[in-house]
Amino acid sequence: MTKARNQRDREVVVKALRPFGTSIFTEMTVLANRHGAVNLSQGFPDFDGPVEIRRGAAAAIVEGPNQYAPSHGVPEIRQAIARKMKRFYGLEVDPDQEITVTSGATEAMCATLLGILETGDEIILLEPWYDAYPPVATMARARIRYVSMKPPDFVLPREELSRAFGPRTKAVVVNNPQNPCGKVYTREELEFLISLCLEHNAFLIADEVYEHMVYDGRSHVSILTLPGSRDCAVSISSTAKTFSMTGWKIGYAVASPKLSRAVRMTHQFITFCGQSPLQKAMALAMDFPDRYYEELLADYTRRRDFLCEALEDLGCRVFAPQGAYYVLIDIRSLGWDDDAAFCRMLPEKAGVAAIPCSYFWKDRSQGRELVRFCFCKKDETLEEGIRRLRRWRS
Ligand SMILES: Cc1ncc(COP(=O)(O)O)c(C=O)c1O
Repeated sequence: MTKARNQRDREVVVKALRPFGTSIFTEMTVLANRHGAVNLSQGFPDFDGPVEIRRGAAAAIVEGPNQYAPSHGVPEIRQAIARKMKRFYGLEVDPDQEITVTSGATEAMCATLLGILETGDEIILLEPWYDAYPPVATMARARIRYVSMKPPDFVLPREELSRAFGPRTKAVVVNNPQNPCGKVYTREELEFLISLCLEHNAFLIADEVYEHMVYDGRSHVSILTLPGSRDCAVSISSTAKTFSMTGWKIGYAVASPKLSRAVRMTHQFITFCGQSPLQKAMALAMDFPDRYYEELLADYTRRRDFLCEALEDLGCRVFAPQGAYYVLIDIRSLGWDDDAAFCRMLPEKAGVAAIPCSYFWKDRSQGRELVRFCFCKKDETLEEGIRRLRRWRS
């Protein structure tokens, strides 16, 4: 057998990525579809964002631009992002040098990590994580150190975190508000993270895609508002969650010109640019009046309260989120102790799909008691999901 033939007969996925397999979101969505289940697993709305944005996109497709956007984004959306950063966080951000528009927050994370990590650098990931972080860090050939936050409060374990920093630490990723556990970091926790990064000459990458879903009078602290952050932090966000348009994949990274150069360096060779008409339309959305953001929050607060109360009525121990759009339950309250088995059973037996949380820890014995339901769904979808769970429970 020739060498080339031999190579093709073997597993072709690079060794480093094999352990990641197919994402748990894909697996659960396939199961949900197979059993006609109410899909409360993957975090995408079952409604579309405002019609004005969609009309804007239709007009932009007809009238243009329809050619490659500038690599870091059409000027309209970068300027609109800068205005939004000013309106919500009082930040002055230079749209020409400090904002890079990407194919979703996922690409922003990928471009950032690939742009700053050298082979063998260490990166600290806080568990439970958002599923893309470990594979992306792995693609950057970094060594990952995991620091676990524990239920019920998911407090930042400061000592363990300090111990995780070493001479090779290049970056820390923080997701605030946090998916899956709904944690909203306190200002003190974020300041602590910044101080560690400054002390160890590391970067702090903050994934802030749920910035506008922070409940009970708390407010989102953008990482870039904290002292010292301009030297070390990248703020990543996305229009997917704020404008309920996950399929448009418009995200962005905001950072100092120096850090933005690293993001742009890799972004230009991953996708080069995003879709110009969609970016132009999304610029309109960024300028929506405060009322839009207030209604978004009120709608999600109502859905969160409904789901939490209904799950509690079913006898579940519920962790009400401070932010984002997911609710965790402790399945031991339902007599189960294996999240993966529970979530593989649920679509067929109850007609509802959820996500097992042990997939968000390196050591999967952690999080085994936790299952995540999302509430970015129409009221009637959530009601139907609860009706089915009730029937299954009885
Ligand atoms: C924490 C977090 N970051 C990033 C993303 C993906 O964002 P995008 O669709 O803009 O790539 C998600 C989507 O669920 C998320 O929960």
